[in-house]
Amino acid sequence: MKKQTSEVQSTAFTSVMEEHRLFHPSKEFARNAHVNSMEVYKRMYKESILNPEKFWSDVAEDLYWFKKWKQTKVWKAPDAKWFNGGLTNLAYNCLDRHLTNWHRTKAAIIWEGEPGETRILTYQVLHREVCKFANVLGKMGIEKGDRVAVYMGMVPELAIAILACARIGAVHTVVFGGFSAEALKDRINDAGAKLVITCDAAIRRGTLVMLKPAVDKALESCPTVQNVIVYRRVNEVQITMSPGRDHWWHEIIQSVNDKHEAEHLPSEHPLFILYTSGTTGKPKGILHTTGGYMVNTYFTSKLVFDLKDDDIYWCTADVGWVTGHSYVVYGPLLNGATTLMYEGAPNHPEPDRFWKIIDKYRVNIFYTAPTAIRAFIRWGEQWVLKHELTSLRLLGSVGEPINPEAWMWYYKIVGKQKCPIVDTWWQTETGAIMLSPLPGVTPLKPGSCTMPLPGVVPEVVDKEGNPVPDGSGGYLILKDTWPSMLRTIYGDKNRFKKQYWSEYKGYYFTGDGARRDKDGYFWVMGRVDDVINVAGHRLGTAEIESALVSHHDVAEAAVVARPDDIKGSAIVAFVSLESSKIPSLLLKEELRNHVASEIGHIAKPDEIRFTDTLPKTRSGKIMRRLLREIATSGSIKGDVSTLEDFSALEKLRDEDQ
Ligand code: PRX
Repeated sequence: MKKQTSEVQSTAFTSVMEEHRLFHPSKEFARNAHVNSMEVYKRMYKESILNPEKFWSDVAEDLYWFKKWKQTKVWKAPDAKWFNGGLTNLAYNCLDRHLTNWHRTKAAIIWEGEPGETRILTYQVLHREVCKFANVLGKMGIEKGDRVAVYMGMVPELAIAILACARIGAVHTVVFGGFSAEALKDRINDAGAKLVITCDAAIRRGTLVMLKPAVDKALESCPTVQNVIVYRRVNEVQITMSPGRDHWWHEIIQSVNDKHEAEHLPSEHPLFILYTSGTTGKPKGILHTTGGYMVNTYFTSKLVFDLKDDDIYWCTADVGWVTGHSYVVYGPLLNGATTLMYEGAPNHPEPDRFWKIIDKYRVNIFYTAPTAIRAFIRWGEQWVLKHELTSLRLLGSVGEPINPEAWMWYYKIVGKQKCPIVDTWWQTETGAIMLSPLPGVTPLKPGSCTMPLPGVVPEVVDKEGNPVPDGSGGYLILKDTWPSMLRTIYGDKNRFKKQYWSEYKGYYFTGDGARRDKDGYFWVMGRVDDVINVAGHRLGTAEIESALVSHHDVAEAAVVARPDDIKGSAIVAFVSLESSKIPSLLLKEELRNHVASEIGHIAKPDEIRFTDTLPKTRSGKIMRRLLREIATSGSIKGDVSTLEDFSALEKLRDEDQ
């Protein structure tokens, strides 16, 4: 704890094993793709840069606006407005827009529960459910601009809840079901939510994750919350309902009308807040607004996933993360696509559950994370080979760098060397995919997210902001604005400015290290700040440190990442205890559990190492580089002349041997 730095990780720019072959899309794929030649991509890209207003205005015309915008883009860094003066509604564009044609009877959501149930909601049915739930929100006193926290498992009602919020102009903040009561409480309070929507429990790997009890615990100190709606996912579990405050979804939905007029919302009306980890102990509430987010997710879903009307599309992300917002729910529905939602774990009841689902529903497009791919590799290709997978035509990857070995395995074993892989780079803050191949066009290099999408202007720069030569490592920034750019950190404009816009004046700093090769391909190497990516989940080291120091036995803690074959990074915590406390295995376990209860299981340190003191510079900054090196290899390289207490370092090193 006790630091705020964006010190570059020494491992960040080191190159991974490279695969030098280029992988081209098949002629057939290219012929049928929305973007079908490099010339078309280049022309689009050029137009989007030379005249972004015209470019994005043309895209936005595909969608429905109650009133057309006056200005396409108003931009004075860091403040952006897109489609200013326009009135629209995201839920209307996801649903009502498709009811006037044959999409009305098409599957909007195919849902598979972990125990094996199937539910299929057509566009018409989904529309009806969303209208009803929008009326429920009205009944609960929720108005335009009010914040609604959503803490649910992966059930269709989660999509219904957020679409209903978007329909009435309430701002949803989805909190991943794996977060603890404590983390939920912080997010509810930061957002000032009036209503919480939850489930009795979620089902994961055959066990129950008790969500409602966590809500009860959180609400002991959430004064803004007036009501709770509980969707009953698991019939037999016993939960407590607080009279007057808590309402069953299935009961309250009975008493409402199924007609609802979508609100005509200004393009810049806030759509959602999604909390993500930054470099301090406090998560950031990333705020997205309506029109720009809608246009950008619509456009990127269509081009990157080459969505066609007869596709069954499956993104395995949880709606608790941005990938679930943009590419499970909003992007596919804006395109009138069929999106598959799966409730549970990839290895339940056996490690071939995903492949079973692909064959069962004849999935065509499959989008998952490298950490899942590395787990599949470990479980063995026999689980994949048991299934045909002949319906697949496109694969995607998101959330962390994909190592070329994992890429090749995905390409050969899952894609049978016929499916292009779109390695999509983006962030909670960007709202939509920024760097990615276009599957019918871009020759693929395993491990590279290739090139910017139209409208995106990336650059790799040094510490002073000067572009570095091709092939050299540097910091990834984005110049100019794009429609789905975050608008602020909720309630903290200063942090927004400082975090993203102060490092390279007027340019957006991504927090990632990258390099561009001689062919113009981008290779994102990972975070260069104190954010770590564990199994595709973004966590702040400071958040974990503050969870650790909140334990009465802990005096100080420093958390670093070490590479992990499956999860990408593992969490290593160096902990010094209060003087009277004795290190023990039991205490290690207690501290790990303490972090789980403060944040959630995803943040549980893989390793805890006790130390008398932490190595610090003369100015008192913890020398994380050293800790990372110790955690990774046990050896110390580089300059240690600023180290204050060498004995601390010696001790840590000794412990390693
Ligand atoms: O470090 C990058 C990594 O994930 C970070 C963003 O995390 P989050 O906001 O949780 O969003 C994840 C899903 C979009 C980035 O700063 N990242 C994401 N995609 C890639 C990636 N790193 C390398 N390659 C990617 N394709």
